[in-house]
Amino acid sequence: MATPVRIELRRDAGRIGPESGPWIRRNQIARMLGIPDPHVLAMVVDRKGEPMAWGLVSAVSTITVRLLGWGAEPPPDDWLERRLAQAFAARSAFGFEQLGTTGYRLVNSEGDGLPGLVVDRYGDDLVVQLGTAPMAAREQAVLDWLRARWHGAIHTLVPEGAARSEGIEATPRDDEPSRLLAFTEHHLRFEVPAPPAQKTGAYFDQRANRRTIAQLAKHHGGPLLDLGCHVGGFALHARKTGIDVVALDRSRTVLELAAKNESANGLSGIDWIEADMFERLAAPQLAGPFGTIVVDPPRIASRKSDVERAQGAMGRIVNELAPRLLPDGFLVLCSCSHHLGREHLDRILVDARFGWARILALGAGIDHPVAPGHREGEYLRVNVYQRRDGTRLANA
Ligand SMILES: C[S@@+](CC[C@H](N)C(=O)[O-])C[C@H]1O[C@@H](n2cnc3c(N)ncnc32)[C@H](O)[C@@H]1O
Repeated sequence: MATPVRIELRRDAGRIGPESGPWIRRNQIARMLGIPDPHVLAMVVDRKGEPMAWGLVSAVSTITVRLLGWGAEPPPDDWLERRLAQAFAARSAFGFEQLGTTGYRLVNSEGDGLPGLVVDRYGDDLVVQLGTAPMAAREQAVLDWLRARWHGAIHTLVPEGAARSEGIEATPRDDEPSRLLAFTEHHLRFEVPAPPAQKTGAYFDQRANRRTIAQLAKHHGGPLLDLGCHVGGFALHARKTGIDVVALDRSRTVLELAAKNESANGLSGIDWIEADMFERLAAPQLAGPFGTIVVDPPRIASRKSDVERAQGAMGRIVNELAPRLLPDGFLVLCSCSHHLGREHLDRILVDARFGWARILALGAGIDHPVAPGHREGEYLRVNVYQRRDGTRLANA
């Protein structure tokens, strides 16, 4: 093993242990001894100078060390290959294929003990995202392992945001943005623009929720409104149950694909609307009444200081749409920002018109594991509320 970088912590770094999660930030480090080459490991020492944890080092990033494990012993030389094998074996055990699903996450960064690495399966294709300098430095090893086991195409990218914070090169924007990736989800066929033309892929994290919400909506029976519908995930699942659906997105490209996905699945009748969900929702098809309304906006709170503004923006949508939701109907509020938590979503409803009961608290699916203590890894919150007139708590 190459000589590790020795990381000495500040005395005022706060409690650092398995419960504090897998990241050590630059402001927690007193001294770094050795060259912080992304290929070598970081050895974190305790106050007596004894090794207490091992990780990967990013010289430029404010998240300087991403831990691979606690204890005095370094991880084995083949930690990368072992963890890749474990992550793949875990997904086989989930039985996605038997559920008619060929789109899912095979590797979820810290959640699979592989900080900085995301691997998504889209049918026959894999999309590999290298999100940190140490993982970009291990690209060849990752690709060698994957190529020995995967016979379809493998696309690799370094997202722009990661490139900026890690001081590495981003993958250039795709010059063939019409390239599509195809996969199935619960026996429905979808096509999405391939990254990096479309950075975010197919929001596999919402897979289980799309089915849960479709079932709820079906039992209520009223039409479903899908705000931020992307390529039609919630909309198609709901339409398949037989209920009416109206779906809205700001992007014409994804709406065209969504309509194509609708007909590829032998479905029809969904109203696709190009509009901004944060503007007045005046299109006649949005008048309702609806049995279920899904609000799945983009990430609107990247920092803690954005939370109040994000609550205000979602609150305005809720206040405009609540009267268009039938009594006993379902309102699904989604946040894909770690900072905008369940309690912040609840707060929006305390201040909203009518009474509300939170009936479900959903998150990302089983292919998005979270490392214990890694609060930032738990970013998706999907709160499902039922309109309960007459149970309003606030006096306003
Ligand atoms: C988190 S994704 C939604 C994922 C989708 N619900 C699914 O299950 O696949 C957010 C979506 O909101 C759309 N969007 C972003 N800003 C918007 C806006 N101001 N108004 C309407 N749609 C917007 C994006 O194009 C994207 O499709």
